[in-house]
Amino acid sequence: MAEGKTLVGVDIGATSVKVCQLKETRKGLGLVRLGFVPLERQTIVDRHVMNASALVEALQRAFSEGKIRDRDVALSVSGQSVISRKITVPIMTTQELDEQIQWEAENHIPFDIKDVNVDYEILRRRPEAGQMDLLLVAAKRDEINDYVNIARQAKLKPLVVDIDAFTVQNLFEYNRGLPPDQTFAIINVGATQASINIVARGASAFTRDIANGGNYLTEQIARQASASWEQAEELKLQASQPGAPVPAEVAQTLEAVCDTIAAEIQRSLDFFLATSGEDRISRIYLTGGTANLPQLGAAIGRRARVSVEVIQPTERIGIEAKEVNAELLRQRGPQLCVALGLAMRRSKEQRR
Ligand SMILES: Nc1ncnc2c1ncn2[C@@H]1O[C@H](COP(=O)(O)OP(=O)(O)OP(=O)(O)O)[C@@H](O)[C@H]1O
Ligand SMILES: [Mg+2]
Repeated sequence: MAEGKTLVGVDIGATSVKVCQLKETRKGLGLVRLGFVPLERQTIVDRHVMNASALVEALQRAFSEGKIRDRDVALSVSGQSVISRKITVPIMTTQELDEQIQWEAENHIPFDIKDVNVDYEILRRRPEAGQMDLLLVAAKRDEINDYVNIARQAKLKPLVVDIDAFTVQNLFEYNRGLPPDQTFAIINVGATQASINIVARGASAFTRDIANGGNYLTEQIARQASASWEQAEELKLQASQPGAPVPAEVAQTLEAVCDTIAAEIQRSLDFFLATSGEDRISRIYLTGGTANLPQLGAAIGRRARVSVEVIQPTERIGIEAKEVNAELLRQRGPQLCVALGLAMRRSKEQRR
């Protein structure tokens, strides 16, 4: 599996561009480069790139500030235009499967098959039942092309396109492994969306992205406190610091909105439990910028009745170069998980 060199992980989010580069060392993977460039608010709206030149410039700046010379990158897409499903098919060779997969996708993916790119991973072969389990993934080609074109305009060479939910799982697997006897959820909560990934028997069993995240909190604080967006964002960041003085109404708004987000997440967890045959989710791990807000983890924990932990991405990844901005890594750890997961992808990978 581990062939070729690692790619530069490029996470294009609604509020910022994050880039990471890892290298193989004797002790395992080490972080050698890191870049972070905030985006103006209207650059990307509802996952659509509204200001291509601003985004191209941000990408270039992330590479130059991070002192990254390599141009081979892994990107990710996410949101409502990406779908994954666990399906069961009769046992067949990989070659047969490659021929058959479009047809399988047509039966399982609620998009017009002409508009999507389809990929799959074999989760388990069960010769005794004559069946195999696959993870089928479909992403709308428009969105992939948008991001790939932007990357090319920034003089980058995209070799891999992943989805947010899986990149975070990759990182988690590297740090902690995927215990085969546990069913747990990893949820990346950004500014405009939350990507839910439920891992069961050591593989992803369900993903869903919901269109809700940190921006909704800022919006509601702005409305409640009659504050500007910037002031509301500042109040929110303050409120994430333990013990910081926060006006009571802001604290209340945060509690209420976190509970709304938690309720929406819980609906997905309940759907999974009702349809998968699994009886419980034992733990929830959070990544993404909004994971920094303790109120969100608490709200999710209350709804799901399990413990919630925020992932610090570099548990097993050392800092290997003086160019890495350690302060950035410390401040923005949870926000860098998608980029770090992408940076684990390689230029040559083989299908399992
Ligand atoms: N300390 C903090 N407390 C609360 N919220 C925070 C904190 N740090 C960052 N955020 C919020 O996290 C969000 C940005 O996180 P992230 O970088 O993961 O999102 P993104 O990738 O830009 O967006 P998306 O994934 O929706 O495209 C913003 O809403 C920001 O306000
Ligand atoms: Mg994101």
